[in-house]
Amino acid sequence: MQTVTEGKGTTKMPKSIPVSEADIYSDETLLNPWPIYRAIRDAGPIVYLDKLQMFVVARFNEAREALGTASVFSSAHGVMMNQPMNESTKGMLLCSDGAEHQQMRRVLMKPLVPSALRDLKDTISIEAEALVDRLVTRGNFDAATDLAQYLPVAIVSHAVGLPEEGREKMLEWAIAGFNCAGPMNQRTINSFGTLKGSIDYALGECVRGKLKPGSWGEMLLDAADRGELPIEKAKTMMLDYMGPSLDTTILATSSAIWLFAQNPDQWDLVCQDPSLIPNAINEAIRIESPIQGFSRYALAEHTFNDAVVPASSRVIVLNGSANRDERKWDSPETFHVRRKNASEHVGFGYGEHVCAGMNLARLEITALLTSLAKRVRRFELGKTERLLNNTLRGFKNVEVTVH
Ligand code: HEM
Repeated sequence: MQTVTEGKGTTKMPKSIPVSEADIYSDETLLNPWPIYRAIRDAGPIVYLDKLQMFVVARFNEAREALGTASVFSSAHGVMMNQPMNESTKGMLLCSDGAEHQQMRRVLMKPLVPSALRDLKDTISIEAEALVDRLVTRGNFDAATDLAQYLPVAIVSHAVGLPEEGREKMLEWAIAGFNCAGPMNQRTINSFGTLKGSIDYALGECVRGKLKPGSWGEMLLDAADRGELPIEKAKTMMLDYMGPSLDTTILATSSAIWLFAQNPDQWDLVCQDPSLIPNAINEAIRIESPIQGFSRYALAEHTFNDAVVPASSRVIVLNGSANRDERKWDSPETFHVRRKNASEHVGFGYGEHVCAGMNLARLEITALLTSLAKRVRRFELGKTERLLNNTLRGFKNVEVTVH
């Protein structure tokens, strides 16, 4: 890692910002990002990634500061690492600021607040019990597919009210969307076509008459009818339910099982005291953050400790690295379901754009772990395969035998 003393690249460089040659989107780094994240954290509170010509924030305090200072670190200029995506996602909830963002978020959040999720809670518990019963009877299953995919696909797509036709493509679409958030590498380029399918679906199929009556999707259209949103926004917000609600939860669930399989003492603790489950979920999301990071655009110069990020620069915020920052966490690599400050992680983000669906995600994962804790003493790990994605971390397969 070198230190820059003069202007370099297209962005005017301030003094003493460390420069890294790392490609944080290479296959190798995506599969095992921890050594490079650590080197970036150790280099300084803010580092310049020469390959991407972007700054990166990898420490916990600075990540929270960036995410919590939306007046400087804008989402409305896009949160992705490539310009075509930042152009085409303009105006989406995730990619908006200030009053516009707040208004959209108010509408979108209505069915996602804990009081509104109360009805869904019973359905989720019943479905989770039945699913776990079937899988445990079988004796072995894939935690990434058989266990983790069922609730998000069945429950969420039903609640959003999506038409049957096309629903089976939702997982493929969501994976492609998260790939397209990366820099213009081959993974991003290969995913553009698939992503277009989901946009066509949201805009073409999610219309009155096709959406289930009383569904979340229809609530968006009702809000447009009441003048709370322009109709075009209501339609694109369908993507805010479809895109981030599936893989995130699926990956968090299978990572949790993978962690429990490798740390049987932690599973024993949860089985003895299921009230630890919410903290165990936080700990799994901290240590294997399903969303590793998005970016922000600095509207003004900002100083992190002594390091100055110039105005008009793109800054990647690595939530996955912040959640393993040894400045914040004792033994950050250890999965510890009783960790006192586990809930402080930024795996669900932080600040104005903090995850809108975290209550639902917690509900789904809690229901599965609660059912498993009643029936399973040990997870024996079989074949596992990691997902290669520009934004997401987790598994394609986690085969387990249960005892
Ligand atoms: C374990 C599961 C999940 C994880 C780890 C996760 C993670 C995140 C993160 C890190 C952000 C912040 C993005 C940013 O700072 O730019 C976010 C935002 C968001 N999430 Fe989640 N998410 C999960 C589940 C869900 C679910 C189930 C839904 C929908 C029902 C959802 C909907 C959203 C939406 C709409 C936003 C944008 C919020 C805004 O911009 O105001 N997420 N999520």
